Amino acid sequence: MAISEKVKNALEGASWVRRMFEEGEELKQIHGEEHVFDFSLGNPDLEPPPSLKKALKKLADQPIPGMHRYMTNSGYSETRRTIAQFVAEESGLPFEEHHIVMTVGAAGGLNVTFKALLDEGDEVIVPSPYFMEFKFYIENSGGRIRLVDTHEDFSLNLKEIEKAIGKRTKAVLINSPNNPTGVIYNSGPLQELGELLKEKSHELKRTLYLITDEAYRRIVFDGTELPIAFRFYPHTLRITSHSKDLSLPGERIGYVAVSPLCEEVDELIAAIIFANRTLGFVNAPALMQRLVAPLQRNSINIKEYEEKRDLFYDSLSSYGYQVVKPRGAFYLFPKALIEDDVAFVKELQSKRILTVPGRGFGRPGYFRIAYAVNRKVIEKSLPGFKEVAEKYGMGGR
Ligand SMILES: Cc1ncc(COP(=O)(O)O)c(C=O)c1O
Repeated sequence: MAISEKVKNALEGASWVRRMFEEGEELKQIHGEEHVFDFSLGNPDLEPPPSLKKALKKLADQPIPGMHRYMTNSGYSETRRTIAQFVAEESGLPFEEHHIVMTVGAAGGLNVTFKALLDEGDEVIVPSPYFMEFKFYIENSGGRIRLVDTHEDFSLNLKEIEKAIGKRTKAVLINSPNNPTGVIYNSGPLQELGELLKEKSHELKRTLYLITDEAYRRIVFDGTELPIAFRFYPHTLRITSHSKDLSLPGERIGYVAVSPLCEEVDELIAAIIFANRTLGFVNAPALMQRLVAPLQRNSINIKEYEEKRDLFYDSLSSYGYQVVKPRGAFYLFPKALIEDDVAFVKELQSKRILTVPGRGFGRPGYFRIAYAVNRKVIEKSLPGFKEVAEKYGMGGR
């Protein structure tokens, strides 16, 4: 077959998330769906806010002439203005409509950002464990991913980031709240990261960029306020979407916000818009742009995720699992009870529990649980987690 070598290699190293998802489908065929506890995929189970459905109905009943047409590649002015106001309030920076580019989800936002920034061989530093798709998004634009370890508690390791910055570094990409760990990066380390990037930009005599993937930005627990990265470094781009906070992953709606303090900001925005057009996205979905604009301060009921986090975290800890308590997103990333995370995930599968091995996120020896599922699924899975813990001699408490 004549497919590209690059794609062939990528397919051979198939995503662990997908692999587990597919094995899970087989298990469901055998045991019936309700007897399989699927924590493999981060696919929110909550419905979007009722106000969104109401607005959708209103648009269908009273359509705005031309509402299905092409538009400017950055998206509707009104939507971008509303988002800019919101980001300006949050950050205290003078965001205006032209600093926002509407995108096809965060995935689209990341791809257009890398296309705009990267030349062949440019490196993007990514703290690991990490969301595996980053590698492909970076490589789509000819870049290279440069992974750096985080600390034991998955917080940013600034020494490792500093060591990794070199001649080809173009950007650092951070993801907070994090997939797969649920960790949030605090202001202190972000401030230090900002200082480091300033120093290194000065040393290298060119600007390094900070790209923040905030796909889970509103899914935060324990009253935590997500630190605003724009405050810590001028050359910052935020990429986010409403896949998680409004439970709209299938609708593909997100945005890139470029800090007004970025160097040559207008040129950078023009490059992002060009990439949005020429990568074939053209523009973000029209209907969704209208619907999410008034919902910038809304979200699905985050408390539900927090309660699921509590149930899962407390139970696993009591069975003897070692797990960093997540402060956001809807993932847990416990240590596997044996060295081989794939074998461990298979062990859980024998209890009809589907998780993903840590090596799928660059960290063998761990496994990821995606708990954006019905609470009953969690409850019913717990005895299986307990039995596996007992098998490996965990006393529990
Ligand atoms: C860390 C991270 N970034 C980006 C995405 C892509 O999200 P979207 O649906 O907005 O493209 C995901 C989806 O799971 C994610 O986990």
